[in-house]
Amino acid sequence: MTLELTQQEEAMLEGEYGRATQKAMEILTALGEIYGAERMLPVTSVQISGVSYANLGEPGLKFLNDLAKDGKVRVLTTLNPAGMDLQEWEKLGIAEDFAKNQLRVIEAFRKMGVVTTATCTPYLVGNIPHYGEHIAWAESSAVAFANSVIGARTNREGGPSALAAALTGRTPAYGYHLDENRKPQVVIQFEGELKSVRDFGALGKAIAEVAKGKVVYIKGIRSASIEELKGFSASIATYGGVGIYHIEHITPEWKEYPIPKETIELGQKDVKRHIEEMSDELEEIDFVTIGCPHTSLREIEIIAEMLRGKKVTKEMWITTSRPVKEIADQMGYTKIIETAGAKIAADTCAVVAPIKGRFKGMVTNSAKACYYARGRNNFKVQIKPLKEVIQEATR
Ligand code: F3S
Repeated sequence: MTLELTQQEEAMLEGEYGRATQKAMEILTALGEIYGAERMLPVTSVQISGVSYANLGEPGLKFLNDLAKDGKVRVLTTLNPAGMDLQEWEKLGIAEDFAKNQLRVIEAFRKMGVVTTATCTPYLVGNIPHYGEHIAWAESSAVAFANSVIGARTNREGGPSALAAALTGRTPAYGYHLDENRKPQVVIQFEGELKSVRDFGALGKAIAEVAKGKVVYIKGIRSASIEELKGFSASIATYGGVGIYHIEHITPEWKEYPIPKETIELGQKDVKRHIEEMSDELEEIDFVTIGCPHTSLREIEIIAEMLRGKKVTKEMWITTSRPVKEIADQMGYTKIIETAGAKIAADTCAVVAPIKGRFKGMVTNSAKACYYARGRNNFKVQIKPLKEVIQEATR
C-alpha cells in the first residue's frame, strides 16, 4: 500500500506553501507511511497538546519558533492547558522565569494563528466538531470524548502531529478515522449504580483493567451527564490507552456495529475496589483540586453554591478554561469562590503546572488527576465525590 497524495498535498511537500507547511507535510507523510495510510483526509478542527513549558523546554520552543516563521494554521486550532494561568500566574505561586518562558510558547502559537485558549475541554468552548467529522486532536481525554460522545473521528495525536495537521489541514487516514478500528470488540455488562463523576472515573479504570486495550461496548449505564462522560473519557483513556468506547443508548455510534460475543461482567464491587485503589492513607491533606478535565460552567455553578459563605482551609484549585472562567466572573461565581479562599485557575491544571513535590496529600474527584498526581507529582491522593471534596476543603 502506498500513500497517495493529491496535487495540493504534493505541492505542500515540495515546499510551494512555505517551509513550515513542508515540514508539517513531511511529518504527516512519515506517519501515514508508518501506519499504512492510503491517503490524507481533510480535517476541520485541531487540538494541540504539549503546551506547558515544563514539557517543551527550550528545544520544544525552538521547534515552535522555527515553524512560526512562516507557518499559519488552516483550520480552527486550540491548545491544551499550559503550565500556568496565563493572566494570574502569580496567585498560583508560579516563578517569574517559568512564566516568561510559558508566555513565549503561547506567543509562538499565536503567531501561527492558533486560538490560544488553553483547555483540555475544547468541546465546551467553541472547538466542537460534529458527528462523523475528521479532526486531529491531541489530549487523550478529549480524543476519547470526541470519538465516543460526539462521534467525530480522531487518532490520539501527539503535539507535533496535531500541529502538523493544523498547518496543512490534513491527517493520514488510519486508526480511528476508519470504521474497522471503531468497532467494539468486547461487551462490558455493568450491574450497579453510578452516582457521581468519581464513580464514572472508577468504572473507567475498572474497564481499562479488564478490556486490555480493546474497544468496549458498555451495557447497563442508565444515564450520564456531559460532566460524567468527560470524567469517564479521561479515566478510560488514561488507564486503558483507548481512544473510543460505546455506551448502549447513550453514545451516538452504539447501533453502528455488530455487538461482540465476548462479555465481561463488572459490578458495584469493582467500582468500589477501584475507588479504594485510588485512595491512599493520607497523613495530611494540603491540596484540593477539581477540574480534570477542565470544569464546565455547570460544575463551577455547583461549586460556587457549595462554597457560598464558607472558608477553605487548604490550597484549593478549580481548573477551567478561560472562556468558562469569564462567564463565571460575569455570573458572580468567581467572587463567591474567591471569597471562600479557593482559586479558579484558568488555562492550566494541577498536572501540567510545575508543582511537583509542593503538596503532600491531594483530594480530587478525578480518576485521571489521581493517576498523574501520584506518578508525576509525587503526591498521595484520595478520590471523592464532588460534595465530599468540598467538605474536605472546608474542614
Ligand atoms: Fe486536562 Fe490536565 Fe486533566 S490537561 S484532563 S486537567 S491532566
